[in-house]
Amino acid sequence: MSSIAILGGTGQQGRALAQRFQHAGLQVIVGSRDPDRARAAVSAWTVVAPAVEVADNAAAVARADVTFLAVPFTFVEPLLDELRPRFRAGSLVVDLIVPVTFVGGKMAMVEVAEGSAAEHVRARLPASGSRSLAARAPASPSATQPRMAGRAAAGGLGRGE
Ligand SMILES: NC(=O)c1ccc[n+]([C@@H]2O[C@H](COP(=O)([O-])OP(=O)(O)OC[C@H]3O[C@@H](n4cnc5c(N)ncnc54)[C@H](OP(=O)(O)O)[C@@H]3O)[C@@H](O)[C@H]2O)c1
Repeated sequence: MSSIAILGGTGQQGRALAQRFQHAGLQVIVGSRDPDRARAAVSAWTVVAPAVEVADNAAAVARADVTFLAVPFTFVEPLLDELRPRFRAGSLVVDLIVPVTFVGGKMAMVEVAEGSAAEHVRARLPASGSRSLAARAPASPSATQPRMAGRAAAGGLGRGE
């Protein structure tokens, strides 16, 4: 069975995704900077088989066929700089990231030099074979050409595309 790592799996988006994937019977690895924090988060969930694994982010990525990035925009660059060598060849990366910051409780958009959070992420993934897909592409079986659009993106690594 494919393994799905969710980096930021302790956060609002990440834990919601992790629980839903897990309830669908998928093998989920909750990634965190601190596995104890991930363990504490998972212990509060209703878990059905298979068991949820927890790991530090680097170990989670190294074991995953699909990695979801569910961390705030501000931190994705240092995170990917650290984890880039750990992604498995042929694995898929999906990001949920919206380029915003919160200052004094107020949300502000971040201007992204690359044009979008998806492109920002793609530029920091392993170069070989990375690609990005608009959300509409997987929804359409006839859409075979990967395109960049907005923040919903997936990069397949090492497939030589
Ligand atoms: N919340 C929403 O409604 C929503 C909706 C759409 C999209 N999004 C996007 O989804 C992503 C996650 O949002 P969220 O609200 O779930 O975020 P969040 O709860 O604020 O944070 C998610 C996780 O990011 C990790 N994190 C925090 N600081 C970090 C750092 N310096 N380095 C590495 N990891 C760090 C933390 O995990 P650990 O402490 O366990 O490492 C945290 O639990 C964001 O990019 C956001 O723009 C959110």
